[in-house]
Amino acid sequence: MNEWQLNLSSTSIEWLRAVQKNFDAFIIDHALNERKASASAMTLVAHYPDRSELVEAMIDLAIEELNHFKQVMKIIASRNLIIGKEKKDPYVNLLRGKIDKSDSEAYLLDRLLLGAVIEARGEERFKLLAKDLADKALRSFYEKISFSEARHFALFLNLATKYFNQKIVEERLSEWIEIEKQVMESLPITSSLH
Ligand SMILES: [Fe+2]
Ligand SMILES: [Fe+2]
Repeated sequence: MNEWQLNLSSTSIEWLRAVQKNFDAFIIDHALNERKASASAMTLVAHYPDRSELVEAMIDLAIEELNHFKQVMKIIASRNLIIGKEKKDPYVNLLRGKIDKSDSEAYLLDRLLLGAVIEARGEERFKLLAKDLADKALRSFYEKISFSEARHFALFLNLATKYFNQKIVEERLSEWIEIEKQVMESLPITSSLH
């Protein structure tokens, strides 16, 4: 397994303040993100049935993300909240719009790298949040979640290097880091994961 260093831009303190101000809204958005992460992993399984390593890894990921969803839903129930209907995530939609669709190989590489940067951003934000939470149980929950997301970004990058040359992966990854930064900075700060 490769050691990956993802130098994403840092989340601003304003984001943390927005989340603290409306933690209920944040946790609902978090739940929806976990459900979507699970669904996206299964979409990759459906699109690439002939890539056995990808299929195996994405089934495991889908189960793990669904388990995260279950855990967040428990917290939501304990706070007497209801998740409500799913909303579009402008961050993910803008990033999806940057995927290279010129050929099937470039498309697969970008889908894996998009997965990696989204997971890396999750790790960065959950870690930031965990440090700031006064509630011990919630803090430890978010620490664990951030460790999982760190594993997931490495998983996507390791998969990418199974199908593509390391140099190609690294070059395109550095472009994705820049794309992600621009997308992140173009969006308003709200009490949501992205
Ligand atoms: Fe997750
Ligand atoms: Fe994840």
